[in-house]
Amino acid sequence: MNRLALVTGSSAGIGLELAKELASRGHDIIGVGSSARIEGLRDQLPSVTVVQVQADLGTAAGVETVWQRVVELGRPLDVAALNAGESRGGSPWLPA
Ligand SMILES: NC(=O)c1ccc[n+]([C@@H]2O[C@H](COP(=O)([O-])OP(=O)(O)OC[C@H]3O[C@@H](n4cnc5c(N)ncnc54)[C@H](OP(=O)(O)O)[C@@H]3O)[C@@H](O)[C@H]2O)c1
Repeated sequence: MNRLALVTGSSAGIGLELAKELASRGHDIIGVGSSARIEGLRDQLPSVTVVQVQADLGTAAGVETVWQRVVELGRPLDVAALNAGESRGGSPWLPA
């Protein structure tokens, strides 16, 4: 059986690239995004099993939803790439 990787924020950007790299190394993927964009992940990773989870990780309920999906699989989690987030831009040292 493949190893299993959780990649948050894997519908786009860095997280999507992480998911592709892990899939190319034979990991099944649990992919998380806050919007319906995550529903496109499976089509992009046809060589492995993909579990798509739409949840807002900015909320406790969203975190719980994701973790429940991980637990429900009943498989060891080999990799966790906690990448979801957004860039606000600007300097952290200067007033906005
Ligand atoms: N790109 C850079 O130069 C850079 C530099 C430093 C740090 N980072 C950090 O690296 C991470 C990825 O950056 P990126 O440029 O790849 O961003 P991105 O292209 O905007 O992708 C962000 C990913 O995170 C998901 N996401 C955002 N908020 C979420 C939430 N509340 N719950 C669940 N999923 C959420 C998005 O899904 P939805 O769109 O469906 O919400 C998307 O899949 C971010 O944490 C960012 O702060 C990026």
